[in-house]
Amino acid sequence: MAVRVGVLGATGAVGQRLIQLLDPHPEFEIAALTASDASAGKTYRQAAKWRVDSPIPDDVAEMTVTATDPDEVPNDVDLLFSSLPSSVGEAVEPGFCEAGYVMSSNSSNGRMDDDIPLVIPEVNGDHIDLLEVQRDERGWDGAMVKNPNCSTITFVPTLAALAEYGLEKVHVATLQAVSGAGYDGVSSMEIIDNAIPHIGGEEDKLETESKKLLGSFDGAALSLNDVEVGASCNRIPTIDGHLENVFVETAEDLSPEEAAKAMREYPALDLYSSPEQLIEVFEDPERPQPRLDRTLGDGMSISAGGIRESTFGLQYNCLAHNTMRGAAGASVLNGELLLENGYL
Ligand SMILES: NC(=O)c1ccc[n+]([C@@H]2O[C@H](COP(=O)([O-])OP(=O)(O)OC[C@H]3O[C@@H](n4cnc5c(N)ncnc54)[C@H](OP(=O)(O)O)[C@@H]3O)[C@@H](O)[C@H]2O)c1
Repeated sequence: MAVRVGVLGATGAVGQRLIQLLDPHPEFEIAALTASDASAGKTYRQAAKWRVDSPIPDDVAEMTVTATDPDEVPNDVDLLFSSLPSSVGEAVEPGFCEAGYVMSSNSSNGRMDDDIPLVIPEVNGDHIDLLEVQRDERGWDGAMVKNPNCSTITFVPTLAALAEYGLEKVHVATLQAVSGAGYDGVSSMEIIDNAIPHIGGEEDKLETESKKLLGSFDGAALSLNDVEVGASCNRIPTIDGHLENVFVETAEDLSPEEAAKAMREYPALDLYSSPEQLIEVFEDPERPQPRLDRTLGDGMSISAGGIRESTFGLQYNCLAHNTMRGAAGASVLNGELLLENGYL
């Protein structure tokens, strides 16, 4: 029987992607939709300005959107996906967990908290059991897992594939799509014929979240990985797909051939949304490209290319779809991990 799920922030850009992924999902059934008080009481069709590249599912379109309040969500909903603005998430997400709901959240609040697992299932799925510690410490019947920032998700799986060579220093420069800022995020007058060499708060997220994701969990506490990460983030006029230039220094010698092999052989998981090939590696130095490669693996694969030696260690480029692998798809995958690990 399908797990009954709810979406918090269902009318937003990520909320719409969540609905696109959850409606046909064999393990989940959409049973609750919430948004701001301005949307509460409207049908989803009335409340959401639908901008996803497939029609609104008919059954979802006629559901009533409620306020984002634990009392408004039916008790038989077992899992919530949250795509609320982080300030709102910070204020309301803990109340849902206290009320007994298990949550897979995409919002940035709490990602670096010691007792909140920050998870990419293919990279650090074992961190999910930090939820036992979280429940002990917070006294929650519910639980909360987070997925990382979209630009962090793009390069961390490639680092995980190289980890056996001893990661020492990483420099990453991003070329990020406008959808990552939300529909109202960057005006066309700012971004057309332009690039913006700053995205507020983003560099810090890449530098800190990567150390948590690559860290280890001993059953009681998480230790951060001691790799040094420096990031530089740029907004460019693509719609979807973050492209990143990465330089990695490793303790052991690592040739481009060995790096390509390690990335190609890095395993995916037997979860519904995990792609067959997690990291696609191109020989063509002009790939990956956002427009050509962001939908590989239904938008859930990472792609890499241009792997070569440089003055600063190994150099390569990588790419991921920021609202699929980087946001909604990441939350859904964490929901599947919660289910597989008996948290639902
Ligand atoms: N866009 C991306 O690619 C991306 C990638 C990674 C992470 N994220 C993160 O995902 C989250 C959502 O981003 P988004 O781009 O989807 O934002 P968005 O388009 O602005 O959507 C925000 C959602 O939250 C609801 N909301 C706003 N204020 C609220 C309040 N006070 N109480 C209850 N609900 C409220 C909105 O409802 P109304 O429609 O009623 O206003 C809407 O459903 C953010 O934390 C963002 O940082 C986004």
